[in-house]
Amino acid sequence: MHRSRNLGGLVFIDLRDRAGMVQVSFNPDWSSAAAIADAAAVGVESVVLVEGVVELRPAEMRNAHLDTGDVEVRATSIRVVGPAVTPAIPVARGKNDALPAEDLRLRHRYLDLRRPELQANLILRHRLLQVTRQFLSERGYLELETPILTKPTPEGARDYLVPSRVHPGEFYALPQSPQIYKQLFMCCGFDRYFQIARCFRDEDLRQDRQPEFTQIDIEASFIERDDIMALSESMIAAIWLEAGHVVATPFERMSYADAMERYGCDRPDLRYGLEIHDFTAAFAPLEFGVTSTAIAAGGRVRGIRVSGGAAWSRKQVDELEALAKKAGAGGLLRVKKVDGKLDGPVAKFLTPDAETALALADGDLALFVAAGDRVSNPALDRVRQECARRLGIVDENARRFLWVTDFPMFDQDPATGALSAVHHPFTAANPDDMAAFPDAPEKWRALAYDCVLNGLELGGGSIRTSDPRVQSRMFALLGIGDEAEQERRFGFLLEGLRAGAPPHGGIAFGVDRIAMLLSRGASLRDVIAFPKTTAARALFENAPSSVPPEDLRELHLRSTAEGE
Ligand code: AMO
Ligand code: AMP
Repeated sequence: MHRSRNLGGLVFIDLRDRAGMVQVSFNPDWSSAAAIADAAAVGVESVVLVEGVVELRPAEMRNAHLDTGDVEVRATSIRVVGPAVTPAIPVARGKNDALPAEDLRLRHRYLDLRRPELQANLILRHRLLQVTRQFLSERGYLELETPILTKPTPEGARDYLVPSRVHPGEFYALPQSPQIYKQLFMCCGFDRYFQIARCFRDEDLRQDRQPEFTQIDIEASFIERDDIMALSESMIAAIWLEAGHVVATPFERMSYADAMERYGCDRPDLRYGLEIHDFTAAFAPLEFGVTSTAIAAGGRVRGIRVSGGAAWSRKQVDELEALAKKAGAGGLLRVKKVDGKLDGPVAKFLTPDAETALALADGDLALFVAAGDRVSNPALDRVRQECARRLGIVDENARRFLWVTDFPMFDQDPATGALSAVHHPFTAANPDDMAAFPDAPEKWRALAYDCVLNGLELGGGSIRTSDPRVQSRMFALLGIGDEAEQERRFGFLLEGLRAGAPPHGGIAFGVDRIAMLLSRGASLRDVIAFPKTTAARALFENAPSSVPPEDLRELHLRSTAEGE
């Protein structure tokens, strides 16, 4: 019972189920006095059985805003089968009523999930999973399951560990992804695999990350990058179509190097311009401390031109500078052009050549970071996004799908020189790069690709290393040189590869992110039935929680947390 109105002798009830709402009316013309009394006594959110006849409403009583607004149920009886206590948060809301605070809604998720909006989100999620299953299985992909209690599968996050009771001191890990298992399936000859796979990653959370989430996980043998991309594009188009949107394929492509140069990030939002340009040549001849120092140290001066930005106040530009600094830059140099004249701390140092190179139009503001790319990329990315938001130039209805390709194989720690995998350790390196720079793995590009939509990473994958000797060398480059250590951690993959492995590759898409975008939800929590907060807590179930010491003892554990 969603809500009711009692007009003294006439009772109207809005009855809700997952399909929608219908009006049930009690009236002395067709309801007994007892039925009317029963209806008046039903508490909100109670579960009821109603008997009656569906009739057209009188013309003047029709409600065009409701799908069922032309009809009503003329009730002869109502019986409460599931009485409800007073709800902790209201389910029925007026058009202008704000939602209760999210913490409260998460605490009372059993009520929040009754909200038609969340019901619609989860129903859409169901539909997109069904479309995915059908799409892949029609193309010969087998849905195969992989274990949850397993060995660490590195994807760059921390593992969730599960202590073993029967093997003291030993632990299972929850999978960060089914990566190794799907590769083993290829070794076993299941040459097309998919799974709607739950993954677990202990990492810092954001709006677009949850500690457990779901992937559409795909792997195939005898396949190349372009095959995976084409398959993914058709699958994405099928999913978006299910939600009523036509997606144009093929998607745009951009190399990682290009994305970083033009947008300062590896998942650029192409719905707006504000591209980054290199102004080093303009600044190089100038006697200006900030830029000369950076250039002398091997850095560059890169920045964006913001049309109309000259109108922003000093304080507004200071705010942009604060963002750049928070992202790690030393500052944000500004030059604006007003009434044909340049203005800003560096303006009087600019030569006519430099001025030409800046190419500012009247009303433009240019913002620069002078630094190495490692520093300027994240800062300019942040500033670019904020400028776009401020200018209101982000087209909320645009869908700019993009493949980012040719990621570097490794990330090198500038202090120690240590390499880490940019995608994951099982990704194949570009064979041309391996041949050209055999001793400089930091220069190798990976056969890896990400699918990006409007600045959000939807999916990522790669062609894998299928030669066990090359895989072993990759482990060594990543600091796992010891053979015994390799066998201990990844023996089950290496053995599979040694037993005869076809060339293979794959990709995984984030289901939660896709559902969030398609439902226009603000966060992943809007499309997950029982999500975690950004502090990785389940407020409704109240997890994680402490356990009695005897349970820990049985698991051969002792807590060192304070107070225990
Ligand atoms: P990757 O780590 O890029 O690749 O993950 C693939 C996709 O999963 C989604 N995703 C997440 N969604 C919600 N919360 C999270 N914490 C989270 N982390 C990732 C993203 C991402 O693009 N095994 C490889 C795939 C492969 O190589 O085939 C993998 O897991 O949408
Ligand atoms: P300073 O000489 O430190 O007072 O800086 C002069 C101007 O340059 C100020 O507007 C700073 O914000 C800016 N600035 C300082 N460091 C950088 C940098 N690395 N890149 C761009 N601008 C900077």
